[in-house]
Amino acid sequence: MRKLILLLPFLLLLNCKEQPALPTGLVTENAMVVSARVEASQIGSAILEKGGNAFDAMVAIEMALAVAYPFAGNLGGGGFMVYRKNNGDVGGIDYREKAPLSAHKDMYLDSLGNVVPDLSTKGATASGVPGTVAGVMEVYKKFGSLPLADLLSPAIKLAQRGVLVTEKQAKRLESYRENFIEVNGDSTKFAALFKQGDTIKYPALAKTLQKILEKGKDGFYKGEVAEKLAAFMQEKGGYITEEDLAKYEAKWRQPIIFNYKDLRIISMSPPSSGGVTINQILKMMEPYEVSDYGHNSAKTIQLFTEASRRAYADRNYYLGDPDFVDIPLDVILSDSYLKDRMQNFSFDKATLSSDVERGNVEIVESMETTHYSIVDSNGNAISATITLNGGYGSKLYVEELGFFMNNEMDDFSSKPGVPNMFGLIGADANSIAAEKRMLSSMTPTIVEKDGKLYMVVGTPGGSTIITAVTQTILNVYEFNLSMQDAVNAPRFHHQWLPDVVIFEPEGFSTTLKDELKSKGYIINEERTPIIGKVDAIRVLSDGRLEGGADKRGDDTAVGF
Ligand code: DON
Repeated sequence: MRKLILLLPFLLLLNCKEQPALPTGLVTENAMVVSARVEASQIGSAILEKGGNAFDAMVAIEMALAVAYPFAGNLGGGGFMVYRKNNGDVGGIDYREKAPLSAHKDMYLDSLGNVVPDLSTKGATASGVPGTVAGVMEVYKKFGSLPLADLLSPAIKLAQRGVLVTEKQAKRLESYRENFIEVNGDSTKFAALFKQGDTIKYPALAKTLQKILEKGKDGFYKGEVAEKLAAFMQEKGGYITEEDLAKYEAKWRQPIIFNYKDLRIISMSPPSSGGVTINQILKMMEPYEVSDYGHNSAKTIQLFTEASRRAYADRNYYLGDPDFVDIPLDVILSDSYLKDRMQNFSFDKATLSSDVERGNVEIVESMETTHYSIVDSNGNAISATITLNGGYGSKLYVEELGFFMNNEMDDFSSKPGVPNMFGLIGADANSIAAEKRMLSSMTPTIVEKDGKLYMVVGTPGGSTIITAVTQTILNVYEFNLSMQDAVNAPRFHHQWLPDVVIFEPEGFSTTLKDELKSKGYIINEERTPIIGKVDAIRVLSDGRLEGGADKRGDDTAVGF
């Protein structure tokens, strides 16, 4: 009997590893969409229900988010998508913004070589050449099955009918109102005061979407829309020309693929740093039995933090647009290299970031990107993260065309060693050059287990995207949380520099923080931001789907 009692914890542990957590999020039999707005999730789910595949749904959802979620959904920005078809084929598409033709390395520096404040973050000078329309049209061309009208009409109708302002959106619009007026003047559409329950109509955007419906990619990058956009950007002092627009192409990229224990993880490759960095973090953690340490325990946080510290140091130094720089992926993703990186890790004491690399920067987190996950009735999966970079991008609103322009140029390293708005410091690999893509942290990811689809996951959050995605995967796989609980669980973040572990406001006790402090970890004391807004789908062992729609936003799972 005594033996049995002693064995009980182990039996429970074994049992807990074998029995996946019961779902707590929306469960559906066939298909699901999880996105930042209920309108977009409903539109996507309806496309799937009428027989469209995940790629059709992507086109419809992305255009619906451009209408319903102008905070981050967009025509004036870009993104990345990773897919896994039901036959196991995987791929990814890069529709990241590009630097305009006239861009150059020192474009945001003054005559003394200092970074000029705001130039890469606010107004027309901050915008890269948008990639969204090229991305979705390329996906449609390759994989779409329904008529384009079926996919774009719902977004066009939504723009005409208008979108209900949620409580969270009303707050956001109010907090950005001064910025909108500063950049666009006080007659801008967004100078108005919006309240929860108001309806915002987007007739100009409906017309732009109609042009895309009529002419496909060229409806945006050539002809009337392109002429108007280029003229507007130049009038506002920006760099984007008609030639820039005409030359823009989305690119198919081979995703980053690696194994973590018995998972196979498929994530975005450069110019996103997401896949490479989660690959490094998880491989550095793999030799440890993290599930034994417990969810968000001091040991788990230490291990994760030390792996992240080392991975972000590499990210910032080696990664950039692969069309412009050689990235030594075979070395920095090799087992021996990663084992070596963790050689000096000990549970007794924090490694100092200054011992990993040098620097001294500030970090700012925000939620201005957006992610959606799709699984269709045939088991095809899509994970897509899109952004304008900052909330409402550069704040520059193209009134006549109905959308905000991005401020993605700030994701370049304007000057080596000087932090961008996420506190990320870059090196030459991410310096500005004409037609180059700026390094991203977006991490749209798909996970397989035993050769089958297991999870679709991604999030906004700037530099915190990578750690939020990694923690969500670990929450389900190592700590046996349901998809919804894994998404809602409190998160923490470390990005090498600044050398500080950031904790969300809820869920981390003083005792835990004191323990970490005693080991030399520096902890954010006064500002505790929320980290990420994860939208994910888990495939249950019986094939049903469980949604994880982040409680931190208006995010919603819809399916059937
Ligand atoms: O591509 C990137 O890494 C950034 N532009 C993402 C920005 C973002 O997630 C904003 N929200 N926090």
